[in-house]
Amino acid sequence: MSEKDKLVIFDTTLRDGEQSPGATMTKAEKLRIAKALEKLKVDVIEAGFAIASQGDFEAVKSIAESIKESTICSLARALDKDIDRAAEAIRPAARGRIHTFIATSPIHMKHKLQMDPDDVVAQAVKAVTRARGHVDDVEFSCEDAGRSELDFLCRIIEAAIDAGARTINIPDTVGYAIPEQFGETIRQLLNRIPNADKAIFSVHCHNDLGLAVANSLAAVNAGARQVECTINGLGERAGNASLEEVVMAVRTRQDLFKVETGIDTQHIVPASRLVSTITGFPVQPNKAIVGANAFAHESGIHQDGVLKHRETYEIMRAQDVGWHTNSLVLGKHSGRNAFRTRLQELGIQFETESELNEAFTRFKALADLKHEIFDEDLQAIASDTRQNDEDGLYELVCMQVCSETGVVPRASLTMKVENKEHKVEAEGSGPVDATFKAIESLVDSGCNLQLYSVNNITSGTDAQGEVTVRLERGGRIVNGVGADTDIIIASAKAYIEALNLISRGGTRQHPQGADV
Ligand code: KIV
Ligand code: ZN
Repeated sequence: MSEKDKLVIFDTTLRDGEQSPGATMTKAEKLRIAKALEKLKVDVIEAGFAIASQGDFEAVKSIAESIKESTICSLARALDKDIDRAAEAIRPAARGRIHTFIATSPIHMKHKLQMDPDDVVAQAVKAVTRARGHVDDVEFSCEDAGRSELDFLCRIIEAAIDAGARTINIPDTVGYAIPEQFGETIRQLLNRIPNADKAIFSVHCHNDLGLAVANSLAAVNAGARQVECTINGLGERAGNASLEEVVMAVRTRQDLFKVETGIDTQHIVPASRLVSTITGFPVQPNKAIVGANAFAHESGIHQDGVLKHRETYEIMRAQDVGWHTNSLVLGKHSGRNAFRTRLQELGIQFETESELNEAFTRFKALADLKHEIFDEDLQAIASDTRQNDEDGLYELVCMQVCSETGVVPRASLTMKVENKEHKVEAEGSGPVDATFKAIESLVDSGCNLQLYSVNNITSGTDAQGEVTVRLERGGRIVNGVGADTDIIIASAKAYIEALNLISRGGTRQHPQGADV
């Protein structure tokens, strides 16, 4: 048996991650991410905020029904209605947790809650007691703990543990903490709270000063035994501590940490890719662990050193975090069996045989164009196929774009709106502009384009381009993603997907907006 303590990895990509503007995910997308997190062997998956909307409730419930290896958690404000809704959503889970929270900093109590500290303590105790009436596994968070007074934290945490909380989370909600000071806060709490040994102390750090991972690790060294984090560091504003960085720091520096995680690190890169594709948030090339350059050695001296002895410049092995050195998988002559087998190896599942057939047809068409098909291409084919099968108001049938020096670019499209075909065309400053104008001449969506980005899925000029289009209407933000070897077609697909998402509508509450 290991002498190290277990560090619980609590992933909140599906809850705090989804609070990033534009990172809204559908229920099917959340389920795919939850499956990737289960494969990673994440201990706790915060699947959502059940009371936020009917969609959120259903997503948490369907994750609770399908995921058996990780604990499934729902967030709930310290309100009866939130707690009861969270309990209902996680009921099917093999192991379920309710995570309830209330703000504890003077600034939040005075201006946001407009409650005095005694009432906040009473509300916290009531919430934890109610949650314990539903499940044994209850987590209590002191929102804005990073700016709360230590004495007050000690008082409310002691009361929450007495009421039955088994995990106490100390969030640095606004990313204000500095590692040494944050570590000291955790140390003090553990020393001063008389019943601290009855709970696991957790941290949840935001990255406003770029210190979320450093603060989390300082807390671990001070005695925290759960870290809340997200894939790719997604999350509200500047994001949360990134799961891959926390996990790999602990694993790489076992000489310094008295803990170990249960994470199967080989699934990190595929999980990162999946989250990036679904949310449309690209991973910056120099991002630690999961960035395209994280293991690339550009300078001659470095390359020479790595070839002679890998450890001269590498502290981790690329394959340990899921980078495949040989990711060329299929070609023009690969058959259906090879295709199906590789999809299974990548953890891609289709719900019906007809989806698989459609994906195979797309694969063959792509192989005709670019001959060598990589894992990343297969992931894009899978997302495209699933998108196509989700009932959307708008559909691209075919398109033609004219781009010539000295001539104004022009796009002509045939689109289906509720299954009726329409032909549209428009001019624009470039082929993408003309395409979007042509679509808008039919749809007149009233959306603002917030982001347009193109990334190549693999290298080379024959690679598929993956386009992300972020649209905003009435405060609602959605991301559409489209992939194709022709980036203008990818752009049209992405724009139409975003329009379909926005047309589905729906509103949701923000957990930290209006409180109690
Ligand atoms: O940042 C925060 O304080 C949170 C809590 C709800 C845990 O996300
Ligand atoms: Zn948060």
